[in-house]
Amino acid sequence: MMKHLYIHIKYQSEHANISCQQCFGKRAAEGITPMALPDILTRTLRQIAPRKAKKHYIDPWRFLIPLVKGQVSTDYQRFWQKYYADLPSPSDKDTIKPGEEPQSAAYHYTAVKLSILQSLNLNPDLYPKRPSVLDIGTGTGHWIDFYLGEVFNASRVTGVEIAPSAAEFLREKYSSRSDVTIMEADISKPGFSLEDKVGIVNAIGVMFHIVPDEGWKRAIANIANALDYNGVILVGGQFRRIPPPLGGLVQFEKIPPGMNDEVKYVATKRLRSLGYWKKILGEHGLEVVDMIKTKAHPLISTPENNILVARHSRSKF
Ligand SMILES: C[S@@+](CC[C@H](N)C(=O)[O-])C[C@H]1O[C@@H](n2cnc3c(N)ncnc32)[C@H](O)[C@@H]1O
Repeated sequence: MMKHLYIHIKYQSEHANISCQQCFGKRAAEGITPMALPDILTRTLRQIAPRKAKKHYIDPWRFLIPLVKGQVSTDYQRFWQKYYADLPSPSDKDTIKPGEEPQSAAYHYTAVKLSILQSLNLNPDLYPKRPSVLDIGTGTGHWIDFYLGEVFNASRVTGVEIAPSAAEFLREKYSSRSDVTIMEADISKPGFSLEDKVGIVNAIGVMFHIVPDEGWKRAIANIANALDYNGVILVGGQFRRIPPPLGGLVQFEKIPPGMNDEVKYVATKRLRSLGYWKKILGEHGLEVVDMIKTKAHPLISTPENNILVARHSRSKF
């Protein structure tokens, strides 16, 4: 434990020195303006602080930067389209962030799988056998492959993708499979529907990308509608202790070049507390039955690996 702490602090401070020098050096060349200060301060704090402090106290404050600096877009459909359009042959790691290392992406996917498998092993009766699956925010199809595999042996999988180029990539990837359907759709829009209900709704790393609260609530309503009475919902992401009035702080990312010249940031992430999740799921007759947290190593940076499991509250299991 002490050894890990020592390595962690040493690693963080070594990186902080390098990055701060680079950061200040670059800024010095550009000329440090008052508008650049929030960026510099946040970037420096993010480099120096331990991972937990960064995640829970510093990252959320990134929301101040765009507010200080100017306009923000909420056009996340265009954001995702541009994101994938820049990647002609995307792979799993690219769905985490551009330039993600294959080994940390594999670590993340394995950790999420561990969470799902823990729930499945401890509550096998909760899960329908040979389910039909709805996978939301399919990306490059990692979870389609997982559900078609021997653990769940899904009878069919429908993948939903908001980004047209990602949907096109997926259609090509699964063109020989009659048990896979790809829908190009936004789960947060009214009118989303499936012909048949599904036994599992899987939404890994996508629900927190739905920033407007009305859209997020509509996505939950759409999921509730799509779910079979004895089915389960698996949501992967972050479930923080943030009270409902705030509903979670909004985080922003710099707009990819060429997407929009008028605004500099796009709102891409909003974290909701577990309490808020429970409240809105409850309004749709759903209840949380399990919450699995799989810890990441402090030196390996991954998105969170937690899984929230929910089902219809009056389901017979
Ligand atoms: C971080 S990636 C995760 C991809 C995949 N679930 C995985 O774990 O490998 C988020 C994905 O969700 C898609 N997405 C974002 N918002 C969406 C929405 N409202 N409806 C459908 N897909 C969405 C994005 O295009 C992107 O492919």
